[in-house]
Amino acid sequence: MKPKKFVLIAVDGGAASGKSTTSRAVAERFHLLHVDTGIHYRALTLLFLNWRRKYVGENPIADFLGQIKIETSLSGQSALVKINGSVPDDEDLRSPEVNAMVSHLAAMPNLRELLKGYQRGLTEFARENGFAGLIMEGRDIGTVIFPDADFKFFLQADEKTRAKRRADEGFQDSIAKRDKIDSNRKTAPLACADDAERIDNSNLTADEVVDKICAIIEG
Ligand code: DC
Repeated sequence: MKPKKFVLIAVDGGAASGKSTTSRAVAERFHLLHVDTGIHYRALTLLFLNWRRKYVGENPIADFLGQIKIETSLSGQSALVKINGSVPDDEDLRSPEVNAMVSHLAAMPNLRELLKGYQRGLTEFARENGFAGLIMEGRDIGTVIFPDADFKFFLQADEKTRAKRRADEGFQDSIAKRDKIDSNRKTAPLACADDAERIDNSNLTADEVVDKICAIIEG
């Protein structure tokens, strides 16, 4: 079933809170463009880590951002970020080095400002590509990127469940540490919007979470 108007859905939550699995499935159900904003921060971090090795100036972040060109390519219903002409490999984006560094870069206001403009522009990309709407996941989607989203969800799960999810995916990740940095930064911290539906999925299956969200959207 498709919603009638272009629909904008924000999904926020900490690391491994089930955002991607849920958002992908909801996107499929309603023919929405799915955007994982975590990969935007990861891609910039990955490139920065390589770029910094050869850098000799005094303003690494500003100079790095000054030579970045961001575009989008589609993989099924998901938007992939293309930086300076190439789409980074997913495995590289989830390396231990990127996991350890990404929250520090994500706390930088000029980097967030650059991504804010790009992320907001993805509604246009979704329209141009014939999608019925957009579902965007991250940390600040309902609070900063799209405060007027039609639907907002905030996913959470207990720490044991989240650690098990990462282990099952085969990734090494410091979930609690990243959440702490993400929640305490000054610019656009990880937060549940006042008008978001909070869903604790520790004891729910992925299908149950998707059904719950779809029922709210259809209702
Ligand atoms: O969703 P993820 O775990 O792949 O995100 C990686 C990091 O990117 C996360 O620790 C913080 C940052 N991030 C952010 O600051 N804001 C977003 N909207 C999405 C991710």
